[in-house]
Amino acid sequence: MSVNGNNATPPSPAIAPGIETLDPVAFARELGQRWPGGVDPRVRAVLPTMDAPFFQAGLAGYSDAAMRIVARQQGCPLCVTEALLDRMLLGGGHGFDKADLVLQNEQLLADNLPSGTDDHPLIGQIIGSDPDEMAAAAVKMYEQGQRRDREYRDMAYGSGGMPHYVDTRWKVGDGEAAPAGASASDAVCEDDCTPEALLRLAEMQPPESYDPRSVFANLPPVDPADKPKPPNSKPERERAGAEAAGAPSRSFATIDVNLACPVKKIDRKSRGGHWLTDPVGAIRILKAVRDGLPPEVPCTVKLRRAYDDTPEMARNFEVIFSAAYDLGYAWATVHARTVEQRYIGPSRWTFLKDLMSRHTDKIVFGSGDVWVAQDIFRMIGYAGVSGVSVARGCIGNPWIFRQARQMLAGQPVTRPSIAEQREVLLQHFRLSVAVNGEYHAGKMMRKFGIKFAQHHHTPEAVKVRMCAVNTTKDWLATLDELYVEPATVSSAG
Ligand SMILES: Cc1cc2nc3c(=O)[nH]c(=O)nc-3n(C[C@H](O)[C@H](O)[C@H](O)COP(=O)(O)O)c2cc1C
Repeated sequence: MSVNGNNATPPSPAIAPGIETLDPVAFARELGQRWPGGVDPRVRAVLPTMDAPFFQAGLAGYSDAAMRIVARQQGCPLCVTEALLDRMLLGGGHGFDKADLVLQNEQLLADNLPSGTDDHPLIGQIIGSDPDEMAAAAVKMYEQGQRRDREYRDMAYGSGGMPHYVDTRWKVGDGEAAPAGASASDAVCEDDCTPEALLRLAEMQPPESYDPRSVFANLPPVDPADKPKPPNSKPERERAGAEAAGAPSRSFATIDVNLACPVKKIDRKSRGGHWLTDPVGAIRILKAVRDGLPPEVPCTVKLRRAYDDTPEMARNFEVIFSAAYDLGYAWATVHARTVEQRYIGPSRWTFLKDLMSRHTDKIVFGSGDVWVAQDIFRMIGYAGVSGVSVARGCIGNPWIFRQARQMLAGQPVTRPSIAEQREVLLQHFRLSVAVNGEYHAGKMMRKFGIKFAQHHHTPEAVKVRMCAVNTTKDWLATLDELYVEPATVSSAG
């Protein structure tokens, strides 16, 4: 997915005629007065900890635990993992680590790092081609992989042993990790990252006679005693308090089904947004995931407004959208571009407005062309969505969340000072090293550094330096050189 390349739209306004009459500052203030935190009470009923009407979107290649924790520290109440490929999850691939569920990480990382308490609530997003695989992957996510990997694979394929498509280099036996750097999302989101193995594997079908529901029906309940004991730290105690209040903790807040990703089909098998061409198949997936999970685990779905602009695809959207709620999905996040559009051209907020006028009873989060904090309230005020998914607008700009909260509180919006930028850049790098290791953190943080540069008074100089960052030493040197307050000009001369 070359969203970083030529096919991504630079920040531009969405299609929203008449929006100029909406004052986002006044609207945000009113929203903050109407409901606590400006949150639609129906959203709170699903997620009691939700205290602002927005979340950080799944952003493959960006939204790892480091980015999420930084966003939360700036006021983001909820984050989404990048889309994790069901097959990779079932194969035990590194993508699962990336969802920060591997509890043994706790031994490696301190409390405030991934798998600690600072990355919750978190929505776990899955993507895939097969209802049974999706359902089993959803259960694995929800249970945080507490069973042996084989048990999850049995849920998807029956007890015939290792599914044929699992590349044995990646998973020789339970407990063995995928090679460093291999992740589910790599396969999901890179057009040119469709390993031959996966292409071969995609041809394999689960046995036709097998009904995964029979396996789900017989699952033993998860024994809470198997879960690690909470350490006696302050964040853990806070988490325990939240748990007592009914908030989800270590598990995902919702399991989100991705029917939106525009990455091309693999071997004629649909996944992501391609399901919008096949409502029956899409509904099978939605149903399998919903049926596979315990009823108290909320499910949500990510959609695009259609596959393309034909009337047939518009009908498909309606069918899938309505079916999701009929099946018991808590909400849909709707990206108001078509799959064909990928990330090019404006998001059509008129679509969201029309949708909400016809479905006032449903919780919907809107997505597309949310670049600054004001856009969050423009979208809610214009389209009537319950909340907003913030995507490219928060890459290198976690302050968008702080600013949105300031707007809800009727306060002036503040830009990050150089000292604040430095602090966040340091923190993000430190977290990224913890999550990705120094080598990958260097590469990752180059992408972020270029985006962070927009807040600096000499953005071009920052970009040039950021492009050359490899090590922690380089990063610190760049910050020391460029992230210092500009000398104040003395009026006395
Ligand atoms: C680099 C990148 C990666 C993305 N990865 C995901 C993903 O893993 N899951 C998802 O639901 N959406 C993903 N999206 C889509 C965004 O969540 C969002 O719907 C889209 O970017 C439109 O919002 P925007 O125009 O405000 O950026 C991705 C978008 C980008 C740019």
